[in-house]
Formats: sequence, structure tokens, C-alpha cells
Amino acid sequence: MKTTAFISAAFATAVCAQNATTFINPAVPTGQPIPGNYSGGLRPQVHFSPPQFFMNDPNGMFVDANGTYHLYYQYNPTGLGAGNQHWGHATSRDLYHWENQQIALFPPEESVFVFSGSAVVDVNNTSGFFPDQTNGVVAIFTLARYYPNAAGPQTQNIAYSHDGGYTFQLYDDNPVIDSTSIHFRDPKVIWYEDHWVAVIAYSQEFAVGIFTSPDLKDWTFASNFSYHGLLGTQYECPNLVKLPVRDSEGAVTSEAYVMTLSVQPGAPLGGSITEYFPGDFNGTHFIPFDSATRLTDFGKDNYAAQYFYGVPDGEDAISIGWASNWQYTQQVPTGNLEGWRSAMTAPRANYLQKADRIGLTMMNKLVDPAPVLDEPLETTSFGNSSLSLDFSDVASNALYIEANVTGINTTLVTGSTTLNLTFTSPASGESLRSGFFFGGDTPFWIDRGLVRGFDNIFFTDKFSAANVYDGGDGTLASWRMQALFDRSICEWFLDGGVQAATVLFYPTQPLTTLSLGSQALPPGATVNVAIWSLKSAWAPYANEQGTVVGNVSSSGEGAAGSRRDMIYEGSFSS
Ligand code: FRU
Repeated sequence: MKTTAFISAAFATAVCAQNATTFINPAVPTGQPIPGNYSGGLRPQVHFSPPQFFMNDPNGMFVDANGTYHLYYQYNPTGLGAGNQHWGHATSRDLYHWENQQIALFPPEESVFVFSGSAVVDVNNTSGFFPDQTNGVVAIFTLARYYPNAAGPQTQNIAYSHDGGYTFQLYDDNPVIDSTSIHFRDPKVIWYEDHWVAVIAYSQEFAVGIFTSPDLKDWTFASNFSYHGLLGTQYECPNLVKLPVRDSEGAVTSEAYVMTLSVQPGAPLGGSITEYFPGDFNGTHFIPFDSATRLTDFGKDNYAAQYFYGVPDGEDAISIGWASNWQYTQQVPTGNLEGWRSAMTAPRANYLQKADRIGLTMMNKLVDPAPVLDEPLETTSFGNSSLSLDFSDVASNALYIEANVTGINTTLVTGSTTLNLTFTSPASGESLRSGFFFGGDTPFWIDRGLVRGFDNIFFTDKFSAANVYDGGDGTLASWRMQALFDRSICEWFLDGGVQAATVLFYPTQPLTTLSLGSQALPPGATVNVAIWSLKSAWAPYANEQGTVVGNVSSSGEGAAGSRRDMIYEGSFSS
């Protein structure tokens, strides 16, 4: 008998298989995906968001041998704020169309929450859980115990899956790393040559513990990576990821490791932010190349990103972050208006490259949005001019925009050389603005302050990034911007991902017109613009009531892309 989600329980259950128990709260649905209505005016159409209720960190991300991406996430299936953490689960073939699966991980007891962690495919059965298969999945995660008036210890635990990651059984001999600390969490596991490596945050001691294991069960402490970068008041969700290093032509010249650390609260912009450190890893110790602190994002809505396990060596890593910030995530209006809170960022391809002036940089390149591109609405080139576009007839209210400025004689750039991109609601007059100053300190800026659907003291309204453009040497330079606009989330990628920002905004009326224009560009400079409408990644799978139910297949064959096993009817209230 298994102890996991597929137990159909009409009442609270503690089920025993050998020693491991699973607690299933009667309000938490089991065995089938939670239905969701994705048609609300604030619901992202090409980003992942949970069917209902509250989501935070991405967890357990891996790509399986069939090319299906598995995204688990911190999930409260009974409320619109943080708490009652489980691992929700969704799968995708292309990183844009997601298919909701049943909840994958439940806690062992009522007073314990399943916090963040990671998952690996144990192809060689190092764990011994999978004598007859190569697609066994092991999840490693923090269990956080709570007493009536106090937090209990956080320990590291594992669960294994014989069906490719759809259902899990808690290991009998948990925890695999015990502790008495109430702030020891978020294990991320990778394979290094001949052993497993876990990085785990000692959150309030500002250390990342590095542990090794031959079998995912027995772990040995190897080293600490302590007091690096911005401290905020806690370290959370570390990652250690091997990335290709590319030269200016894009060719892979070597590889290096990157340690990422999510810090919150106490980020410079307030709340949550992620920093990273490129460096060397020898299987037990991580040594950063330099003492600089680098941030993954210049907005404040990209936190706790994880890197998919299973992407082949030598290829760009692929990451997805939680598109929110603990400062206001539990107040955003999607909860009361539409019954869900939080989306994930769009997928990013990551590699290291020397960027002008900044030096070694982890590029955040938008994964090709081709799977959701619909129609080109505008393809044009101009020098100093502007265009306006009414996209109120785009059903998804989502767009992909590229502006590629070429032939810029940098000696003729002035303080008023600019390129601006603005989205507006003609109905309410609200607007989301962004722009680039080619001269001076060359900042790119974003302003969500003229969007009025959410008023919160911490919902910072303006962001800017410097040093994204080298205007120094008088050569004919170029500069490129991509924007993924999706109802209540917009992401900007500058110069192919040297800088990126994820920004939430909550309009009272949909933003349905766009203007894009340049001013005072030097003669010979050209702005090449392409604007595409996007297809909703959710609408085609909604039933007549507008509900997307998901996939009950446990084989992975119905994963988004083929969607053979979608269910269009039947739902349960929760
Ligand atoms: C980060 C975090 C993690 C923790 C999880 C709980 O956002 O605080 O450290 O495991 O969220 O939901």
C-alpha cells in the first residue's frame, strides 16, 4: 500500500506503510488535479499560476527522459495566503503550456509542512528504491514542524516515486538530515561526478551547508559557504548549478558553477531578491571567483528560482522563479478577485558570459516563446518615430515585443536619446511605462505607479538598471529589448538577458494599447520592431464553464504538448 496522494480520503487520514505516514487533511483533494479558472482579467495566459489558492517557490524541478518538464511548487491548497504547505505539481513539454497534476507531496503529520526542496532522477538506482527502472524520482525537501505556539525543527527528508514523479512515497527512515534548528531548509541536490551534493540554507546563520551522499539517504557535511553577498535577514532556497561559459560569439569555451542565494526579508528594494556568485566547485567546496554580489533581476518580483535537474551537461541551464515578493504577495488583489495568488516567471535559459563593463554575468535569456506566439501584429523599422497599437481584440491580452536598435553612433547619442514602451488602458487611463536612456548612465527604467488596482506601501513602483549598454567607444552599437506582457505580469529582457526584470502590475481595467517610440537617435540608427499577439496557454483546455481541470494520467503521456488525457468535465469543490 502506498502512503501518498492517491489515497482517496473523505476524512483526515494517517496511513501507515511500514513506518512512513502521510497526513491528508479532509479539505485537500487527492488523486486528481485541482480545477482552475484561468479566464480572470488578471490571470497570466502564458505563465504558470496555480489552479486556485496560494503558491510560492518553485520546487523539485526536473526534466525527465521523455523531455517532460516537471514543476512542483509550494502550495497551500486550502487558502489564499502562505501555510499548509504541500507540493503542487504541473508538467510541460515546452515550458509555456502547463498541465496541472494532482498534488504530489503531502506532509507526514498534521502539524508538519512540506517546505521547499528539489528532485532528481535516480537513473542508476543509487538509492536502492528503483531496482527495476531507470526513471525513479527522489524528492528531497524540508519538513517544518509547528507546535501550537512555536516553530519546531526543520529537517531534510526524502520521498520516492515509481511513476516518474506523479505520486511519491515518504521514506521510512526520515529525516535523512536531522536538525534541531528552526531555520535549516530548502535542499537543492545535484550530481557531481560520483556522488550527490546538496546545498541547504542555515537561513539565519547566513550559511549554505554543502553535504555529500552516495545514495540520497546517508549525507555527510562537507563545507559551509558563509556570509557572502547581501544578507538581508535570511538566506533561503540556495542552488548550485553548472553553466556553460560562452564567448562574445556565443560559443561555449568552458564551464563554471554558480551558487544562487535567495535573501528575504531585507533586500535593497525591500522584501525578497536573489543574488548569485559564479565560481569553482570541486565536489565538496564552492569558491566564488570574486567578492562581487550580483543580482538576478532589477525588479522585485523574481524570487527563489530553481534550475531544472536533468538538462544535459554543456547545455544552458533552464530556470523558473517565483514571480512575487513576500512583502506583498499575500495581499495582491488576485486572491479576493479571482481566487488565486502568485505566478511563476517565464522560463529563462542561463549561461555565463562577459558583459560590457559588468564582467562575468549570468545571462537570463527568455526561452523562445515560439510555442505561444500567435500572429505578428506589427513588424516595422524606423529611425526616430513611434507607433501605437490597439490590441484590445487580442483575446489573451498578452503580447511579445522585440525592439532591436542597430547602427547607433555612440558619439552622437545625447541625454535625450530614448526608446520608450508604454501599455495603457484607454478605459481607465492607467499605464505601465518603461524606457531606455542611451546617453548618460544609460539606465533602463520601469514604472508601474500609474497602474491603480493595488495600493500597498511596499509595492515599489519604479525600477531601473544601469550599465546595460556600452556607449563608450564611438562604434556603431546596438541594443535590444524583449518584453513579455501578460495581463498582470510583464518581463523585460535587455540585450539578450544581460539584465532582466519581472514586474507585477494590477490594472483596474485591462491595458489594451501600446506605444513604442524613439527620440533623438543619431542618424543611421534603426529601430526594428516586432510585436506578436500570444495564444493563451490555458484557454484551449477550459471546459464550457471556463474550468481547466488537468490531467489524471500518471504516465506522463498526457503532458502538455500532446494533451491527450485532458479532462474537460467533472470538478470538485474544495
Ligand atoms: C522561501 C521560503 C522557503 C521555505 C518556503 C516555505 O520563499 O520561505 O525558505 O521553504 O518558502 O513555503
